[in-house]
Amino acid sequence: MAKKILFLSGSTRIGSFNTALAKAAYEFAKTQDVDAEYIDLADYELPLFNQDEEAERGMHGNAKRLKQTFTEADGYFIATPEYNGSFTPLLKNTIDWMSRAHLENEPPLTAYANKAAAIGGASPGGFGAMRALVPLRLLLSNLGVNTVGKQIAISAAHEAFDENGKLKSERYQGMLEEIIKTLIRIS
Ligand SMILES: Cc1cc2nc3c(=O)[nH]c(=O)nc-3n(C[C@H](O)[C@H](O)[C@H](O)COP(=O)(O)O)c2cc1C
Repeated sequence: MAKKILFLSGSTRIGSFNTALAKAAYEFAKTQDVDAEYIDLADYELPLFNQDEEAERGMHGNAKRLKQTFTEADGYFIATPEYNGSFTPLLKNTIDWMSRAHLENEPPLTAYANKAAAIGGASPGGFGAMRALVPLRLLLSNLGVNTVGKQIAISAAHEAFDENGKLKSERYQGMLEEIIKTLIRIS
């Protein structure tokens, strides 16, 4: 059976460069022998995680749905913007929600443990969201996710994609393909 790989962006902004990056990765994955799925976090809106509300109401329905999808996947590619040197609160909140057990006798971290991930980022600035990738890699590692060593950081992101959402630079496209191939292999 083909491996299941998810593709998502840590930004729901209209015209997001990270969504463009996640979609470019997804388009390449569709040419490989893999079951690729694009996840739009706008379809999984979640309140800011609050442990008292969780105790009162249980896991939010959108978190349950997304957690199930992650649990069934073998790996994922996450593209994140850099917000003040880190990844976005949207990503942190989503990852926190899915880290919680909500079923009886559920093993810990079913959405993460022994899964694989590759990460990338895009920024209009000169460093291509590089600083966001460090804490994101650390977070995933803390959750038991095996991360691909190579990563992609796209600088001058406002000039990096053509009108069809394709990466203009062959070098960036080559890096992305190599990362996705590695992700598929280790997933
Ligand atoms: C709160 C906030 C903080 C930001 N901090 C950084 C930063 O530290 N480094 C950087 O390169 N860009 C920073 N930016 C600019 C983002 O890289 C830019 O808005 C980018 O387009 C966001 O990603 P998106 O296009 O995928 O939505 C910041 C933007 C916001 C809204």
